[in-house]
Amino acid sequence: MDNPALGNDMSMVIEADRAHLWHHLIQHKPFETIDPRVIVEGKGMRVWDARGKEHLDAVSGGVWTVNVGYGRESIADAVRDQLVKMCYFAGSAGSVPGAMFARRLIDKMPGMARVYYANSGSEANEKVFKMVRQISHRHHGGRKSKILFRERDYHGTTITCLSAGGQPQRNAMYGPFTPGFVEVPHCLEYRKQWDVSNYGERAADAIEEVILREGPDTIGAICLEPVTAGGGVIVPPAGYWERVQEICRKHNILIHIDEVVCGVGRTGAWFGYQNYGVTPDFVTMAKGVASGYAAIACTVTTEAVFEMFKDDASDPLSYFRDISTFGGCASGPAAALENMRIIEDEGLLDNTLRMGARLMDNLAALQDKHAVIGQVRGKGLFCGAELVADRATKEAADEKKVAAVVADCMAQGVIIGMTNRSLPGLNNTLCLSPALIATPDDIDHITDAIDGALGRVFG
Ligand SMILES: Cc1ncc(COP(=O)(O)O)c(C=O)c1O
Repeated sequence: MDNPALGNDMSMVIEADRAHLWHHLIQHKPFETIDPRVIVEGKGMRVWDARGKEHLDAVSGGVWTVNVGYGRESIADAVRDQLVKMCYFAGSAGSVPGAMFARRLIDKMPGMARVYYANSGSEANEKVFKMVRQISHRHHGGRKSKILFRERDYHGTTITCLSAGGQPQRNAMYGPFTPGFVEVPHCLEYRKQWDVSNYGERAADAIEEVILREGPDTIGAICLEPVTAGGGVIVPPAGYWERVQEICRKHNILIHIDEVVCGVGRTGAWFGYQNYGVTPDFVTMAKGVASGYAAIACTVTTEAVFEMFKDDASDPLSYFRDISTFGGCASGPAAALENMRIIEDEGLLDNTLRMGARLMDNLAALQDKHAVIGQVRGKGLFCGAELVADRATKEAADEKKVAAVVADCMAQGVIIGMTNRSLPGLNNTLCLSPALIATPDDIDHITDAIDGALGRVFG
């Protein structure tokens, strides 16, 4: 249907969208009567939609991605220059930006050594799953093939990533799944499963209980988000990671940290795991690596892992027989190099810590004012506010009302997020992840919008 408020060009775009586009993760029935959302332009922290309406983006492109903000000409220039010089060659060969970004990245990751390129977070995680399986076959006689994952974590959209997915609503109806993935309990103390004072250690011990139940000899790796993102912004309790690491080392289980959301600055450290003193065997990353200016994902391993794939050159099946066509695109590392330069030169890690503290303070003040906020959680510019119908019982707020808060903010011109089709009855956490360039005014603007929305929706 034509919308007279829009110019002809935008009307055509919206009609083409309505007629032919299948958007991600959204029910399309409403688009029969309302316009689908089309984002046309972005600059800094702000985006404009097809109607020309300005929005402050508090979720970095919706899914924690555009960490250095919109409209960065220097990244576009770097990508353009690289594409004109050398756009693509298969990843069995190297590229200039591929090698140079790998070096810059490894400099930020003491203990890690090798970078394997792919084009999405899901794919980067799948690489690790394949590596773990191949290590099992080649080095453990087929033992140690199982992979542990955690309730409420998400690792991607493919069937095997969903097999490692701890969010039942993302998985529902997509089975049967890949065998050999085993769930361990989440570590969110607010929704506690044990009544103890050392919750972090207790939640980690629950992982050991699963290991002992399955048999340590059957388990090759554990895949965890450093801070759970879409499962409700879960910051691990004190002592959790230390104990997880101790347990994994004891049982010879490789540690795979999924930094697809936290990686490259989101928590105020280069990587989320660096807040907790973990020494991983695998680290995967995607979204913020090039802030969405190019599709790039990395699977980073230690030299010890890498060595396991080149120890017998006489065996034609011994190396990592994997390929990713677009993992060879040179635009990804070219964008990633410039993205990293921006974060360093503009001091964005420090800004993330300062603005993250301000965001948490503002959210805490909102919690004092609005009984519907049960808990606020966060690390750097990665925060959540869990909404409850009753603070004493912690009964989750009605999901429709949580969505109404998001819609109210949108009407005010502020884009915030919420846990979406994640956990039955527990899609009740507002999610905030502004770009790392956020100013104090931006942060206050975001929390002012939430303040108004909570007042209107919950009274
Ligand atoms: C923690 C985590 N891992 C993996 C992924 C999958 O990344 P992609 O959508 O790039 O495949 C996501 C996506 O949201 C994520 O949040």
